[in-house]
Amino acid sequence: MRLREFLEARGADYSFKVVAHVNLRGGIGKTISSITLATRAVQYGFKTCILDLDSQGSASLAFGKLPGEDDPIFYDVWQRPTEMLPGALQRIEDQLFILPSSLENGLLDINMINPSAQKNAVRGVCAELKANHFDLVVIDCPPSLGTAVISTICAADIIVIPVASDAFSFRGLEITLNEISSICQTFSIRPPQIRILYTKFDRRIKISHDAAARLKANYAQYLIPIYIRTSTDFLKALERGETVFAHSQKSHAKDDYDLYVRSLLHLDSALAGEEDD
Ligand SMILES: Nc1ncnc2c1ncn2[C@@H]1O[C@H](COP(=O)(O)OP(=O)(O)OP(=O)(O)O)[C@@H](O)[C@H]1O
Ligand SMILES: [Mg+2]
Repeated sequence: MRLREFLEARGADYSFKVVAHVNLRGGIGKTISSITLATRAVQYGFKTCILDLDSQGSASLAFGKLPGEDDPIFYDVWQRPTEMLPGALQRIEDQLFILPSSLENGLLDINMINPSAQKNAVRGVCAELKANHFDLVVIDCPPSLGTAVISTICAADIIVIPVASDAFSFRGLEITLNEISSICQTFSIRPPQIRILYTKFDRRIKISHDAAARLKANYAQYLIPIYIRTSTDFLKALERGETVFAHSQKSHAKDDYDLYVRSLLHLDSALAGEEDD
């Protein structure tokens, strides 16, 4: 029996979801978390699309899918997703696709100033993905609070804020939480579910433990109870143009992200008692 049918029979929920990784702070694992979540979710049977909204195009680059001059990106498709989106998606593997990104997406900050467009742009693209039978959309955001992030906040069911142990991360976390709340008020929308993912945890370093204690003390209601430990495996996988889930050998990078995916997508009880690969 296919894994998905097996998990569905045990109560796993494959209803359409939009998950975004957002933090103003750069370099704390938004892209690694996006591509790793997407790859693992596919292994659990979710038909998944990555929306790369960062004009750096890091998620696209990670899969060798940087767009060419004529390849459409979000900037080109958001006004006419029904017509434009299917042809713009690049296939990474059987059930995994990406809408790649390039510098041109940075123009959204200049050209998408109408609040109604901001509210509906990412929503429209996600609605089209739902219509195309995707189960999961994973959005990789730039380290800013510009238009792409505003539009993402309006579209996401779950916003995951990755946080590392440094002070800039915590400041980014506070600003991101405030921004989410102010956008929900401005646009009168239902707040997304907010989760905090602690990344780059290094048990040998005191500051890592201090940051964990601070997250537990101040953000317990949002905190995912799994920490992502530092590992060189992420960099090595990127060098190979893949994620840590491309191979079957064991690693704590895989263990941590697997637990994250299980927790985020509520797969724990359906998987209880199963051996992972
Ligand atoms: N758990 C980890 N252990 C070790 N290195 C990591 C870990 N997570 C991410 N990295 C590395 O840190 C760097 C930044 O990660 P990533 O690109 O995912 O951050 P980001 O938040 O998307 O950055 P930006 O805001 O610039 O887009 C990358 O080189 C990545 O390989
Ligand atoms: Mg990134």
